[in-house]
Amino acid sequence: MIVNWPERIWVNSPVRRYVQQQEGRFFRRMSTLAPGGKCLEIGCGCGVGAKIINQAFAPAAIHALDLDVDMLYAAKKKKNGWNNVPLHLLAGDAQELPYPDRCFDAVFNYGIIHHLENWQKGVAEIVRVLKDGGVFFFEEIYPPLYANPLFRRILQHPRENRFHGPEYRAALAESGLRLLDGYKESRFAILGVAVKESEECEVRM
Ligand SMILES: C[S@@+](CC[C@H](N)C(=O)[O-])C[C@H]1O[C@@H](n2cnc3c(N)ncnc32)[C@H](O)[C@@H]1O
Repeated sequence: MIVNWPERIWVNSPVRRYVQQQEGRFFRRMSTLAPGGKCLEIGCGCGVGAKIINQAFAPAAIHALDLDVDMLYAAKKKKNGWNNVPLHLLAGDAQELPYPDRCFDAVFNYGIIHHLENWQKGVAEIVRVLKDGGVFFFEEIYPPLYANPLFRRILQHPRENRFHGPEYRAALAESGLRLLDGYKESRFAILGVAVKESEECEVRM
């Protein structure tokens, strides 16, 4: 679901940029993702996340997807100033990612899964496009934050099929994403890193 104008102001604000930078440092500390990987950011907004990914992980390429073409234009403008890594911007739906299976070393989610009507499909798509051993970095928020009586009036989010911490963490586990110790969670939000377990199972004869 595309964000409305109050949320657009928040997403484009210096405070949001600062929060994302701090979260990028946390992701860096939590993961040993090797340089030279192929990274995807879903719901990239105006491109702050892509810049942080570039600084923190020195990838070979960044793919960034958003439903909102205006956000992608803003991200394209922000790309000026760091031309060392290709940034591939694409309009698309995180519930049906337009990428092949197992093609990314890492997927980043800076607060977009709660915007998906079918968030479980979004999680399944992340798992599908990650390579075995690939890393999922996420900041996600829960209804007590974005759907409290005040923000419910100001912001626009799907109202059905919502998730809190237990549902979100269970969906990661059921999809084959192992949450790493050290994640931070409150009743409002979660910040963490998960690794895609290999689908290969050992056969003993
Ligand atoms: C809360 S904003 C977060 C933007 C940016 N990641 C950040 O942290 O500032 C959510 C973003 O997800 C995008 N979005 C919403 N639904 C989407 C979908 N189904 N597929 C892809 N992007 C989506 C919105 O257009 C918006 O840019």
